[in-house]
Amino acid sequence: MNKAKLIQLPKILDERGNLSFIEKGNEVDFDFKRVYWIYDVPGGEIRGGHAFREQKELIVALSGSFDVVLHDGITESRYLLNRSFIGLYVPQMYWRSMQNFSTNAVAMVLASTFYEESDYILDFETYLKLKNKNA
Ligand code: TYD
Repeated sequence: MNKAKLIQLPKILDERGNLSFIEKGNEVDFDFKRVYWIYDVPGGEIRGGHAFREQKELIVALSGSFDVVLHDGITESRYLLNRSFIGLYVPQMYWRSMQNFSTNAVAMVLASTFYEESDYILDFETYLKLKNKNA
């Protein structure tokens, strides 16, 4: 799993309301240590805009919609997340931002690491140099 990809999560349809879930080893193959979520994003704001040296993640739009823009060092891709049974897997060393949040959008992120400031690469040129060095 060293490429970004959309992952279909289980969806248990029920007249009482649907249910989805994520289990380590099935839907995601990394050991997640942290869950965080982004919400109440004012219109037009952009979150992210950095890469992680180690952290892998799975991003799910639990509510509403937003775009995840990924750069792998060569190509930029844009993923619209607007279903709570679809996850976007993002390996380490992808430059990523989240944009175009709808009203009431909630972005849940399952992260493979505990929060660690030193894991962030905050400058795109530095990211490209590191990425290409390891390519
Ligand atoms: P940051 O990851 O920079 O947000 P984004 O990528 O969405 O723009 O995090 C914003 C702030 O929140 C920063 O001060 C660090 C803090 N933070 C934590 O303390 N723990 C966490 O798990 C996360 C993701 C952020």
